[in-house]
Parts: sequence; structure tokens; C-alpha cells
Amino acid sequence: MIKILITEFINQNSINNLKKKFEIKYDEKIYENKLKLENIIHNYEGLIVRNKTQVDSNVLKNAKKLKFIGRLGVGLDNIDTEFCKNKNIHVQPATGMNADSVAEYVVSSSMSLIKKIPMFHNGTIKGEWPRTAIRSAEINQKFLGIIGFGTIGKKVAKFCSKNGLKILAYDPYINEINDKEIDAKLSNLNEIYEKSDIISIHLPLTDETKNMINKSSFSKMKNNPIIINTSRGSIINENDLIDAYHEKIISGFALDVFENEPIESKFYNKIVPGMNCILTPHISGVTTESNIRVSDFIVKKIINFFN
Ligand SMILES: NC(=O)c1ccc[n+]([C@@H]2O[C@H](COP(=O)([O-])OP(=O)(O)OC[C@H]3O[C@@H](n4cnc5c(N)ncnc54)[C@H](O)[C@@H]3O)[C@@H](O)[C@H]2O)c1
Repeated sequence: MIKILITEFINQNSINNLKKKFEIKYDEKIYENKLKLENIIHNYEGLIVRNKTQVDSNVLKNAKKLKFIGRLGVGLDNIDTEFCKNKNIHVQPATGMNADSVAEYVVSSSMSLIKKIPMFHNGTIKGEWPRTAIRSAEINQKFLGIIGFGTIGKKVAKFCSKNGLKILAYDPYINEINDKEIDAKLSNLNEIYEKSDIISIHLPLTDETKNMINKSSFSKMKNNPIIINTSRGSIINENDLIDAYHEKIISGFALDVFENEPIESKFYNKIVPGMNCILTPHISGVTTESNIRVSDFIVKKIINFFN
């Protein structure tokens, strides 16, 4: 019987379905023990991971039987896809399956930060009444800059353009926006930096995008924008982001992803109550609904593949 290894959490119902077809080893903590993964991977034809399992060349060179890797999510930066291609291992992301969840996170965190909710909350729970000391704003007619205009970027644009925001999109890999429901203008990065009130990042982590938003980018931002990052932590230089906040170049930020996950004290020690920011532990794509969709999608793909 074909053996499948699952190294991170998956919907229970999906495991039951997989067990009808395959021999399943499910241990949602294996990703923490890289050596163990390297030592047992030779037993498996299929592997199902999220973003924490590092499927690098050390794992893959031992994966003598491996034919299929299912990724319960989207980014493939934890998988050596070049190595997989050379070894003819099929890598399957759950494209689009958690896009609604991420887009809703972007909308809700943008709204919260424009409204300065974290600051009002912090003052109010301390017994203060910062009714006039803090000024919030409306989103209508504000500029939203979207960097990376793929599945999630477009979903964010669709929602926001219907709700009064003006959308600028930067993506050098697309020439036109051929979706009538999206009212957005393709722009260059400088225009986005100069005009945006909110900037949301929806890029894959690649050599090109690593550290792409840095001191030089912040220095071009003219409208004290809010920065939202749900893509990958290393795309923004975290130190430069904190500096830009303290220098009042940006007026807030929501981070769901970090250079190091779990977040390390050298970063979170810089975050103090009263800052207009929201930090979350890489959950924007993980909701009850998306977990079911993502898991079911990968189960279908792996069954079809081995059929
Ligand atoms: N936090 C979470 O829970 C979560 C969930 C899902 C996805 N993600 C992250 O979000 C990213 C985007 O997801 P998606 O589904 O929209 O991916 P996608 O592949 O549909 O879109 C990415 C877009 O980025 C563009 N792009 C690539 N390099 C670029 C560059 N240098 N400059 C500008 N644009 C560039 C591509 O052309 C593409 O249109 C994923 O790669 C993943 O890392 C995070």
C-alpha cells in the first residue's frame, strides 16, 4: 500500500478519507525534528506539509520513493522545488483555497489600523479616555497599494474597490487586469510608495522579493501609509519597518508573518502597548472554513495523482 507522511496539522476528516486509500503516518510535530524527517522520509511515496516543514535537499536526497508533495497552503519557499523538478517529484500547492481568509484579514486589519483601534483599545483599558487625543480616519477614496497582484492581491482589490478605495497594483509579471469586477490601476513601485494610504504585500518569497521593502522603500512613502504583510516575513526588513514607524513615516502595521517564526524576542521587545499595530502568528490563511477547503483539495489531488 502507498505510504503517505503528514508532518503538520490537517483536517481530521481528510485523514479519514486518506486512510481509505493509503497507509498514513500523521505526526503534526515531525517538522520540529528535521533529523527524524531525514531518517524516515525514504519510507514514503507521498508527503503532506504546511509551511513549517523544511523540505530541503537533505530531506529530498533521502526521499528515494517520494513522488508527490502536497502543500496545505500556498507559498513554496519551504520546499526545494528545483530539486523536486529534477527528481520528478510533483509539488502541489492548495492555490486559492485560503485566499478568502487572507483577503478578509487584510481588509479587517486595514480598517482597524486606519481607525487606530489598537491605540484606542490600549488607552481605554488603562482607564484613559483618548477620545480626542487620537485621530482616526475613513477609508473612502483612500489609496490602497497592492504589491503582488495574484490570487490574494486580486481578491483584496475586488473587495476594496467596491468599498470606496482606489487601487494601485504592482506586479511586473502581469500586463493587464482582465477582470471586469476589479477596478485597479497597474502602477510602478514608486507610484505606490508615493500615493498609498495602505500598502498590502502579496508576494512569494524569492531571491528577488527578499528584503524588497526596506529603508529606501519606506523613505519614498509620502502618505504615512499603513503596511499589511500576510505574505512572508523576510520580504519586509523588520528593523527598517520599526524605524519607519518611530520616524512617523508609516502610521501603523499589521504583520501576520515574520522573518523568524515563532517570533523572536529581539523583534517583539520592540513592540510596546500603544503602538498602532497588530501582530498575529501566521494565521491569516487559517480559518475553520479554509482549513477544510485546503485539506480536501490536497486529499483530492493526492488521490488523483496516485490513481
Ligand atoms: N499568511 C498566510 O497564512 C498566507 C496564506 C496564503 C498565502 N500566503 C503568502 O501569500 C503569497 C501570495 O499568495 P497568492 O496566492 O496571491 O500567490 P500568487 O502566486 O497567486 O500571487 C503572487 C503574485 O506575486 C507576483 N510577483 C512575483 N514576484 C514579484 C515581484 N518581484 N514583484 C511584484 N510581484 C511579483 C506574481 O506575478 C503573482 O501575480 C504566497 O506566496 C504566500 O507566501 C500567506
